[in-house]
Amino acid sequence: MTRRACIIAIDGPAGAGKSTVAKHIAAHFGFLNLETGAMYRAFALKALETGVDVDDAAALQRLAVETAIKLEPAEAGNRVLLDGVDVTGRIRTAEVTQAASRVSVHPAVRAWMVSLQRAMGKNARVVMEGRDIGTVVFPHADLKFFLDASPEARSQRRYEQTEPVAERDGARAEGRARDAAKAARIAKELRERDERDRNRAESPLRAAEDAIVIDSTNMTLNEVLKFIEDQVEEHLRLPVVSEEL
Ligand code: DC
Repeated sequence: MTRRACIIAIDGPAGAGKSTVAKHIAAHFGFLNLETGAMYRAFALKALETGVDVDDAAALQRLAVETAIKLEPAEAGNRVLLDGVDVTGRIRTAEVTQAASRVSVHPAVRAWMVSLQRAMGKNARVVMEGRDIGTVVFPHADLKFFLDASPEARSQRRYEQTEPVAERDGARAEGRARDAAKAARIAKELRERDERDRNRAESPLRAAEDAIVIDSTNMTLNEVLKFIEDQVEEHLRLPVVSEEL
């Protein structure tokens, strides 16, 4: 039996649960899971470490020429290699998060990333997750999902991924105040990133016309997974019409 290539695109704003969903769906169907945000993050890390201004398009373009970014799918998620060095553990800081959003507005950076991503997805069975997968990277993807949730729900989910200060401090008033400040900071950073991701001139975040939009505000993870799995199973039962992507 020939294995058909299959691209499943999952796009959406920060904090909508894309990474978690993509990881589960990829594991369920035995597909590769490629998290494209990690590539922008790795490049942002390089800019920060080499002192290149994340708003300087020409300098970033020069930096890109001498940068190698690779995603290596692994059991526990993607490993990100920056110039051959594993930077997986260093790309999730608040500083890199904001810098990634800034480097990603530049057309030359995006064109470079898109070409790398197309090469990674070619003839593969892959769940690719990002902001522009269904609109730009693979406009002919087999299935496109746009995973959304209200800003409040997304901020809350991000907050819950962090360690609560109050618990660590024995729920003292001071700890609780710091928790509240952290929640407010996370909500603010998310709003800023949303604003930049949705309003940039080049490939702004939006749902492709043929994407299935899922508003997960009031859905559990299992409900989202079941919905997507059903769609993918139905798709995989269809006869192969063309291998062209
Ligand atoms: O998904 P993430 O939060 O790790 O992404 C980090 C940043 O990278 C995000 O603010 C926007 C950018 N990004 C993008 O522009 N296009 C993608 N396909 C993936 C991420």
